[in-house]
Amino acid sequence: MHKIQSSKAQLIYSALLFGLSCLALFFMWIQRGFCLGMERDGEELTAQETALYDRQIRVWGADAQRRLSKAHVLVYGMKGTVAEFCKNVVLAGVGSLTLVDDRVATEEALSSNFLIPPVENVYGGKTLAELCCNSLKDFNPMVRVSVEKGDLSSFGVEFFSKFDVVVVSCCSLSAKKLANDKCRKLSKRVAFYAVDCRDSCGEVFVDLQDYKYSKKKQDETIECDLKYPSFEDALSVPWRSFHKRMSKLYFAMRVIEKFEEAEGRGAGEVSIADLSAVLKLKKDLCTGQSLNESHVPDTLLERLVTNATEFPPVCAVIGGILGQEVIKAISGKGDPLKNFFYFDAFDGKGIIEDISAN
Ligand SMILES: *[C@@H]1O[C@H](CO)[C@@H](O)[C@H](O)[C@H]1NC(C)=O
Ligand SMILES: *[C@@H]1O[C@H](CO)[C@@H](O)[C@H](O)[C@H]1NC(C)=O
Repeated sequence: MHKIQSSKAQLIYSALLFGLSCLALFFMWIQRGFCLGMERDGEELTAQETALYDRQIRVWGADAQRRLSKAHVLVYGMKGTVAEFCKNVVLAGVGSLTLVDDRVATEEALSSNFLIPPVENVYGGKTLAELCCNSLKDFNPMVRVSVEKGDLSSFGVEFFSKFDVVVVSCCSLSAKKLANDKCRKLSKRVAFYAVDCRDSCGEVFVDLQDYKYSKKKQDETIECDLKYPSFEDALSVPWRSFHKRMSKLYFAMRVIEKFEEAEGRGAGEVSIADLSAVLKLKKDLCTGQSLNESHVPDTLLERLVTNATEFPPVCAVIGGILGQEVIKAISGKGDPLKNFFYFDAFDGKGIIEDISAN
């Protein structure tokens, strides 16, 4: 970054601060609630693992580390946010990580993806997944990182059964819904996450289906049972039923997603030239949903279509939150996010929205 104006520096600062405080909060949770009986299953980790993950084991326990080391994670769409997420789970020591993204490296894809070395003429027609795979292997040799080729919609239910966690990004609305449905068809639970960042804003969707976990509060063990809706069911909740202070980003993301789908564009293939059509679609959607248009500011939509590319500090925040959520879901430790998370670096606010039918 050559020229950093003070507003941008402030933005980066608040984003980083937010990321750090989230991390601190997460650790506090774990320290407070889950200290009891955590060393029991330690013998199942190898000596090498115990040595490498010593500090994490002290934070979340040997049992959690053992579950992590047996978990298989699939990521689809290797842009900046997903790259951050991959780094986090590889360092944390998941069992395996499978990357899918057949696009060849371009300048735009490189701008926010720190995993791809900024050296010209070395890509040699390699795909984004292949380039990221090489870098990720260096982060932690104990994690099996590999590449699969293919389009998200072409993978069958059988393919998803090989994973415990599926994270999708940079894909169409219908591809997200389809992948989520395929995960739900399996008899075992596959945790599903959809993540996207546009300009300095990010969205995370979580589907853990029927998620049971227990937490300790002082001397008491509390059993919790969360029921998550699918992506499709969550999106079908009528807008007028939301609370008054619903995140404006939820609506804005839906408008742009619908626009891309209607125009047959890929995720992020919008520009300022589309603004008037996007604003018209917003008007139509708001009318159809009986929602006052003031809930979806034109200025926000303008930001999101102008800068469809990701902003690195936002990738770090969202990739950090996503990493924590996946570690929680695998380890069964900590209250998981339900079911949408929003972050806007303009105001530095992170917001959780629970959007469930009924
Ligand atoms: C929509 O909201 C704005 C701002 O809160 C308000 O001024 C306007 O009257 C509302 N419009 C309708 C049709 O309710
Ligand atoms: C888009 O992002 C770039 C790089 O962060 C920034 O310089 C530019 O001002 C942004 N444009 C808008 C309209 O937000």
